[in-house]
Amino acid sequence: MAPTNFKFRPATLAEGDDRWFVEAWDSTLPYLASIGSTSQWRYIPSSQPGAVDRVQTMVAKSDASAGKHPTVSPEVLENGRLPLDWCKAYVASIDIKREDIPAALKEKYLSVQGDIVTIPVGAMVLDSKSPEYVRSVIPEQDDKEPFVFLAFLMTDHRAGAFAKGSGSALLTVAKEEVKRLGLERLCGDCWRGNDRRLVGYYEGQGLRAIGDFNVPKNGEDAWEGAVTEWRA
Ligand SMILES: CC(C)(COP(=O)(O)OP(=O)(O)OC[C@H]1O[C@@H](n2cnc3c(N)ncnc32)[C@H](O)[C@@H]1OP(=O)(O)O)[C@@H](O)C(=O)NCCC(=O)NCCS
Repeated sequence: MAPTNFKFRPATLAEGDDRWFVEAWDSTLPYLASIGSTSQWRYIPSSQPGAVDRVQTMVAKSDASAGKHPTVSPEVLENGRLPLDWCKAYVASIDIKREDIPAALKEKYLSVQGDIVTIPVGAMVLDSKSPEYVRSVIPEQDDKEPFVFLAFLMTDHRAGAFAKGSGSALLTVAKEEVKRLGLERLCGDCWRGNDRRLVGYYEGQGLRAIGDFNVPKNGEDAWEGAVTEWRA
């Protein structure tokens, strides 16, 4: 049965979470291939310096933001919007018995002591602004209807059933964060190929698609995306 007792903590460079993010990201590829969504992420993230840098930059930004903006309240806002250097990266984890560690992760935890082992299973990054490639749908920041941007969400597929539901649990954390900041909007983007199946996942989580966009790729088909939005 899927666990429901996820624990949440900030992701940090000090814990090596950037490296784990990339490993977990890699782990999603066989799953994506199995559902006909290979084109969502066409390359193995760990083999792409750009992807590795992107993750490291996000976790570093979150570390710096935690020092500068330690509280989650409307006091963080500047002119009603999040400061551009605001960012929060999260890890969802579970405590499981050593004998239950999935085979794909056993070696990773060989040197960790104790009968109960804490395993990260889900990752999320919230940012103060939208990425450039979605700007045909929403601006970098919105003066009238400010938002938190969901910049990254994935689960570690090596953890199998233990990870299931952690993405949804992290989205609940994101919605709570929006409300604690005194905002009313969570936006994000996702791939809309494969009959908008991933858009459907977000709709099931209470987000709705508010516009499509295409990211041109050199010599390849454009990457087809959709912007999603949840309102408090
Ligand atoms: C999307 C995700 C974070 C959701 O996590 P979760 O809330 O814990 O939910 P689950 O992992 O149990 O997935 C629930 C369902 O969502 C759908 N789903 C998940 N990822 C999907 C994807 N990339 N494309 C289409 N459908 C997807 C599937 O129907 C899945 O059911 P299944 O496992 O029986 O196939 C996680 O499934 C994941 O990491 N997916 C791959 C990476 C990804 O697409 N991240 C989102 C980028 S915007």
